[in-house]
Amino acid sequence: MRYKIISLLFCILAISSLHAQKKEIYLDNTQPIEARVKDALSRMTLEEKVKLCYAQSKFSSHGVPRLGIPELWMSDGPHGVRMEILWDSWGHADWSNDSCTAFPALTCLAATWDPAMSHLYGNAIGEEARYRRKDVLLGPGVNIYRTPLNGRNFEYLGEDPFLSSSMVVPYIQGVQENGVSACVKHFALNDQETWRDHIDVQVSDRALYEIYLPAFKAAVTKGKVWSVMGAYNKIRGQYACENELTLHKILKGEWKFDGCVITDWGGAHDTKEAALNGLDIEMGTGTNGFTSNAANAYDSYYLGNSYLQLLKSGTIPVSNLDEKATRILRLIFRTAMNNQKPYGSLATEAHHMAGRTVAEQGIVLLKNDAGILPINSAKYKTIAVIGENATRKLTEGGGSSELKVKHEISPLQGLMEKLGADKIKYALGYASGAVSYDKVNASPYDAALLRNEAVELASKSDLVIFIGGLNKNTQQDSEGDDRRSYSLPFEQNELIAALQKVNKNIVIVMLSGNAYSMPWLYQASTLVQAWYGGSEAGHAIANVLSGTVNPSGKLPFTFAEKLNDYGAHSFGTIAYPGDSIKEEYKEDILVGYRWFDTKKIKPLFPFGYGLSYTSFEYGNITTDKKVYTNDESIRLKFSIKNTGKTDGAEVAQVYASQTKASVLRPVKELKAFKKVFLKAGELKYVELEIKVKDLSFFNEHSHKWTVEPGEFVLFNAASSAEVKNRVSIQVK
Ligand code: BGC
Repeated sequence: MRYKIISLLFCILAISSLHAQKKEIYLDNTQPIEARVKDALSRMTLEEKVKLCYAQSKFSSHGVPRLGIPELWMSDGPHGVRMEILWDSWGHADWSNDSCTAFPALTCLAATWDPAMSHLYGNAIGEEARYRRKDVLLGPGVNIYRTPLNGRNFEYLGEDPFLSSSMVVPYIQGVQENGVSACVKHFALNDQETWRDHIDVQVSDRALYEIYLPAFKAAVTKGKVWSVMGAYNKIRGQYACENELTLHKILKGEWKFDGCVITDWGGAHDTKEAALNGLDIEMGTGTNGFTSNAANAYDSYYLGNSYLQLLKSGTIPVSNLDEKATRILRLIFRTAMNNQKPYGSLATEAHHMAGRTVAEQGIVLLKNDAGILPINSAKYKTIAVIGENATRKLTEGGGSSELKVKHEISPLQGLMEKLGADKIKYALGYASGAVSYDKVNASPYDAALLRNEAVELASKSDLVIFIGGLNKNTQQDSEGDDRRSYSLPFEQNELIAALQKVNKNIVIVMLSGNAYSMPWLYQASTLVQAWYGGSEAGHAIANVLSGTVNPSGKLPFTFAEKLNDYGAHSFGTIAYPGDSIKEEYKEDILVGYRWFDTKKIKPLFPFGYGLSYTSFEYGNITTDKKVYTNDESIRLKFSIKNTGKTDGAEVAQVYASQTKASVLRPVKELKAFKKVFLKAGELKYVELEIKVKDLSFFNEHSHKWTVEPGEFVLFNAASSAEVKNRVSIQVK
């Protein structure tokens, strides 16, 4: 009897354990992700786990077909969901259902200085990515604006770590609400395109932690981003996608990142380094002809067969693979296998309106000395619109952020709709060549002829609206190469000077993602920086020029008078672009306005600058206390009054400075800001909070953020160069 009971118990145990084994926790959506990941991992073979770690096509990585775990589909990019790309090459797949909304480029988003705009943007682009069945959106980019020659600055959020950190977080949250992973890039120090695939960046710990990493850190710790893209370049001798310091120690160690590190396309170089230093998914490897259609192409990736061999031989422990597979499964469960996610939508009216709003909020009014703006069209019988950018498609080209759009409203179209098509005449004025990646094409037109025609038109018109700037051609605002010069291209300076000779009423509107020199500035009364505005660019520009929208954007980077005024260009070629092997960030922490302020160099237009059609008055800045301890927060308060006749918005900025420090500190640093909407005549109080620990510097000796006791001064300001009032506090 006793034996019978025991064997019965055994039977029950065996059956229930069989049952438990069968229960597919990983498929059960009600289970926590960590339990599902663990369950899935326990069912996988070594080979299946390895396969998760590398591409199966140009833009997808393997799933586990035997277990019904789907692959990951990825797509560029930061300001729109790129058209479909062929399985094995960079060619366009030419689908007819992948036309998207082009959102404004990220410099424009940064210029809104409004985190709510970032969320609107992130959510809308996330909906498009979701609709297009993408699991990972390859953006946003948060590399710091160090030099205006960097071809990819338009894809980033400007020169200041606090501004870019504040703007990147809501973007990520907006994207990820759709069950799509944002992929913040390019981690780290990919601040130029020249020699991007190998240049070895030497940077101090202080500049790394204070300037180049904060936006990535905010993306991870506050935005909870699910994936990060490694950069192409080297950092202190090691490739960024295989970098012990940045990936292993900082990203996964100090910041406790629980997502996936994905290579930039072709960013892996060595199996052991990649495996051991924190890379999770290898994409786009192009070495040794691996991108061909050969059956083994993808298995030959560094994290493919050769990784498998090192695991099998025990050279690399299986725990290394399990860690990667855990992260990748987590990413798959958060995205591809998340059946709670919404369906998304593509190129909708709502998305176009979101894009237009961001574009309108980001346009920066730089000069309006003669009061020409807003344009009262009744005043003018004839309006000349001049310049290639008035009609050029600026959503095409630029590299991986190229887009195929459902529509793109050109500035000319927007202005004709707004000011009256019958009064407007158009002349090209200047021309660039056709856009093609990695190649500069010459203009097919005679520059002098175009110029003469435009000057002739300008001389007969009551008002001239010049629309120029850079474009998405190679060596302009484009991936793969940097600009060759700080000057405007395509003989625009000559054209503008010639126009200024024949007409006093000129509105200059520049479209670019970078700063440029302005030899004609002192003769120009009216200047607008309008970035790349995406699908609705033309409507946004017309709304701002006509006054339907009052401009409120502020510059996210400094416009210098000349190239050598920038810190990165003040130390010879070793500081930019390097000697082709390495590059030293000699300006250290003094990037952007930190450099201009500290070295007392007057820029053309400072960081944080931007005008409005109304005027604002700042009140005194006060704090809730005079003395603070390290772990307290400073509560600040000041009033802003709209003293003009038009409703408008002002970005109130607060900078901090340490009076006496044991290390070099910039004259001042941005610590808080708020965009405040005010009706004509209205006064509001702005209340902001700064943590005392955010006044710290990165101490290279102790490897700790340090606040030294003593006096700090806080300024409210309309730009980094226009301080209004100040208040002093003590830190104990
Ligand atoms: C770019 C990335 C991009 C990737 C895929 C790379 O060349 O640097 O930003 O996401 O290609 O297109």
